[in-house]
Amino acid sequence: MRRIGMLTSGGDCQALNATMRGVAKVLYNKLDDVEILGFMDGYRGLMHNDYRVMRPSDFSGILTMGGTILGSSRQPFKKMRVIEADGLDKVAAMKKTYRELGLECLVILGGNGSQKTANLLMEEGMNVVSLPKTIDNDIYGTDMTFGFQSAADIATNAIDCIHTTAASHGRVFIVEVMGHKVGWLTLHAGIAGGADIILLPEIPYDLDCVLAAIERRHKAGKRFSILAVAEGAISKEDAQLSKKEYNKKIASSPYPSISYELGAKIEEAIGREVRITVPGHTQRGGGPDPYDRFISSRLGAAAGRLVVERKYGRMVAFDGFEVVNVSLNSVAGKLKYVDPKGAAIQEAKDMGICFGDE
Ligand code: F6P
Repeated sequence: MRRIGMLTSGGDCQALNATMRGVAKVLYNKLDDVEILGFMDGYRGLMHNDYRVMRPSDFSGILTMGGTILGSSRQPFKKMRVIEADGLDKVAAMKKTYRELGLECLVILGGNGSQKTANLLMEEGMNVVSLPKTIDNDIYGTDMTFGFQSAADIATNAIDCIHTTAASHGRVFIVEVMGHKVGWLTLHAGIAGGADIILLPEIPYDLDCVLAAIERRHKAGKRFSILAVAEGAISKEDAQLSKKEYNKKIASSPYPSISYELGAKIEEAIGREVRITVPGHTQRGGGPDPYDRFISSRLGAAAGRLVVERKYGRMVAFDGFEVVNVSLNSVAGKLKYVDPKGAAIQEAKDMGICFGDE
């Protein structure tokens, strides 16, 4: 009997279920005697020996289902090594569960922090195969993560919807897009949604450049302007601050997020109405789009094959359109940023989209 543990960790996203289904189908198809144990709520389940013995039928009918049938939770990597007040040594507890259940390996679906933890578990002697999950598309070592396309669809749809109301009222609108510290989601949704100004964490913006772009449109007779602003966007002045100073500034800000602060500044400068829209967690909600179902099935199948062949310590990944696998320790802990000088930015600039830097 080959006994495989599986868990979904970190913020959820579309296509988690589709990915697990891909893994499970390969395992059930290729192995005669396999059992999958699904740990509940990510690493928490592994720590506390909280699992379900999965049946093949558990993986049926979930291709199009959002969320995760196993539940998820955030376990900050940095705290993994910290012994809790109640004496819980998290890493030792996970190792104990792994050993006691006689697991052969863990299949871990997770974002950046979860990949780091997966690597830590590998260093502690556990076998791991990981899969790149996140709407942020910020995992180093893969060109694409599952969840990203579906989230980009939702963020784009939000911008599409804003177009009609912005045009009717002749307003400036900011649509704040998720993405944590990187701008992939905003870049894709901003271009696909026809935003006039796109602000990304990778390109600190100058307020005067943003205002000039809005005024250029106004003078050209355009009734509205739409800004796609990444939740991690940062002004040139703020980018000069140390991390500590910046965090202090954010903590004492009267605004709920960067977009509200920016919106207030724009409104004051142009003397016209500015509105803010934050699609927030809707970007992670609902089911995966067909493209995400396609790529997550491929990634899942590739991960399943690694398990069948007992190739551990790997993360499945996309290199262009090819599914490959990379060593977990070469990618864990690294973020993949948008290249400010990359082709997509240049093409967008050529179309007249303002990134707030010139
Ligand atoms: O990493 C995915 C993500 O949705 C980010 O885009 C966002 O910054 C963060 O998670 C939100 O996290 P939470 O669900 O814990 O509020």
